[in-house]
Formats: sequence, C-alpha cells, structure tokens
Amino acid sequence: MLRRLHSEQPDSFAFTPANLAWAEGQITKYPDGRQASAVIPLLWRAQEQEGWLSKPAIELVADMLGMAYIRVLEVASFYFMFQLQPVGSVAHIQICGTTSCMICGAEDLVAVCQEKIANKPHEVSADGKFSWEEVECLGSCTNAPMAQIGKDYYEDLTAASFTKLLEELSAGKVPTPGPQNGRYSSEPLSGLTSLQEYESGKTKYNASVQLASDIGDTVKRIQGDEVPLLTPWVGKDGVVAGRAAEAPTPPAPATPKPAAKQAEEAKKAAKPAKNAAPAKTTEAPKADVAEAEPEVLKAARGDKADNLKLLKGVGPKLEETLNKLGFFHFDQVAAWGEAEVAWVDARLKFKGRIERDGWIEQAKKLAAGEETEFAKRAKDDGTYDK
Ligand code: FES
Repeated sequence: MLRRLHSEQPDSFAFTPANLAWAEGQITKYPDGRQASAVIPLLWRAQEQEGWLSKPAIELVADMLGMAYIRVLEVASFYFMFQLQPVGSVAHIQICGTTSCMICGAEDLVAVCQEKIANKPHEVSADGKFSWEEVECLGSCTNAPMAQIGKDYYEDLTAASFTKLLEELSAGKVPTPGPQNGRYSSEPLSGLTSLQEYESGKTKYNASVQLASDIGDTVKRIQGDEVPLLTPWVGKDGVVAGRAAEAPTPPAPATPKPAAKQAEEAKKAAKPAKNAAPAKTTEAPKADVAEAEPEVLKAARGDKADNLKLLKGVGPKLEETLNKLGFFHFDQVAAWGEAEVAWVDARLKFKGRIERDGWIEQAKKLAAGEETEFAKRAKDDGTYDK
C-alpha cells in the first residue's frame, strides 16, 4: 500500500500543554546528540492526541528533535502503526486478515466494516465515527479472528459480536477488550484440561485485558494529563525535573500554543541531534554580540578538574571539548558574560546550547557548592560519576 501524506492537511498542529511536557520529558531520556531517538514516542503521542499524523504534526516533531522533515516523514510512512490520513473520531478498526484470522472468519469482519463503516479501507464513515483497515497478523492467532481497536485487542470475534462492539463504541461505551466468546485467554473454549490449579486466584480478566481495563484508554484521545501516563519525571505543571531549579519554565498555557512556538520551546529543553539538518538544528549565535575570549587555563587548577558533565547538556564529548578550550572548573563557566558565551558558542558544534541548557546558572550553583536537580540525579544514578 502506498503510504503518503494525506491530500488534505490541517493548517497547524500543537501538542496540548501536558502532552508537550510529556514530549519534552521523553527527549531528556536520551544522551547528548541522540535526541532523534525520541521520534517514535513523539509521533505516537501526536497520533494519540489527534488520532492520525498530519504534516504539521510531523514537522513539529522534526523541529522539536532538530531532525530534517524528510527523516521524520520516513519514520511515519514506514510504520503501519502510524495513520497518515484522518481516522474515525471514535475509533480506527484494524482487522487482522492473515492466515488464522482469515480461516476463522476475518472476511466476515471485513464485510461488517464495509457495511457499517465505509466500503473502502481508510475511509471515514458517514457519521465520522469510524474508519477501518485490514492489517497483517497481530500475534493473537490463537484467538482468531480478531481486531485491534484503539490500543486493545478484541478477540474471538464473530460478525454478530463485532457488530455489537461497533454499536457500543458508537454509543460512547468502551467494551471490555479480550476474547468476546467467554474465554478467559486462549484456553480451550470447553475449559482447562490441565494446569487447573491456576484457575484460583486469577484476576477478573487475563493480564492484558485487566491492564487495559485498569488504564481505560482504549479508544480515548490522550491529552497528556491522564494518570499514570504522564512521564514520571515531568511534574504536573509541565516542569521537567532538573530544570525547575535551574531555569524556571513559564507556566503551562491554558490552550495549546502554535506549533512553531512549541517547537522553539521544546528545543530549549532538548539537546540537538548530531546529524540533523543544519538549518533547523543549530541556533546561530546572536549576530550583534561581539565575542570576547573568556579566561582559559592550560590545565585544571591543582590538577583536579570539576566534573563538567554535571552541567545539564554537557556530555563526555562536550566536556572534552571544553577542557581542550581551557575550561575545567564551574567557576570559569559561571563567570561568562554574553560576549564570552558568544566566543565559546562559536567554538562548539551546536550553537546556542549554553543559553538553552542554562549552563551559567547551573555553574554558579555548582561553583558555590550547591546542588542542582540535574547534578543530583546524575550522581544518584551514577550516570556521570568520574
Ligand atoms: S493471524 Fe490474525 S492475529 Fe495472527
């Protein structure tokens, strides 16, 4: 199937404030220069929010990660889990059409989709609530035929039970996922013949269904403030741990901001990708600030350099670069003014990171013997122990 951007695109896409905070949190998971690794989580969250991936959403994610648009489009168009066209407002139904399901009645389910939703896959139903497609094996062959609806599996379906599911979803209900024929999981329909001791003490539903029921987000659009789906290290107010003390983030807005603004803000929280397109990955030093060489040293004082990796945004490679430039101590960084920042910035591979990551504020604290959230975290998890 040809996977390309939909012919009709919205003007813009913006993450909700909570989803934006979550996305920023995801970016902080990856080491210096590896922010592009967050591309799938961010695309997925955009899809969880909107139901599908529009061009503006793909471009926003690219901007946030400092990636070329085409690189993100490559990812979005490669994986079938990403929907590149509008989907039903209630649910997008994925019918497994591979061997087991086909033998056990997948064609009947497709016929229901054609009758109740739309004749062709990827068409939205007349009431706008549903869309459907046939997909390859979803790994639930012992419970064939089956469909993935939203995030969960509905198994052991018949045309009648599937029709009933659609009716319930249409009425705003979320039917319990899992086997729809009375089976607990994939045991014989007539009951267990072995391992019967495991009958007692089991949860109401099998593990997958129990979890799905507990979370309850099967067909829900994710706004980002759902518990426990928020990134744990991102506070409810959207402040990424380690940034609060160092560079206060403006309070989360009540309404989503335009995409360009979001990308700009996210870039402040993220470290740029190493192999990103220059035009979008680098921030040129301020043109009107003259450079002034800061105080540099030939070697660390007393032969004991500070661990500069305790500055958020400085990894082992960057520390090496800083050492080569003559910076070994927090107090040296803390003393930089605008002109000195411009000098250092001009000698780093990625411009703008000093300001973006708040090195000077961090360095002032660390030079004064205080702790920053990031340094504490880095020490606690041993990430940057010397
Ligand atoms: S064949 Fe349908 S889930 Fe495997």
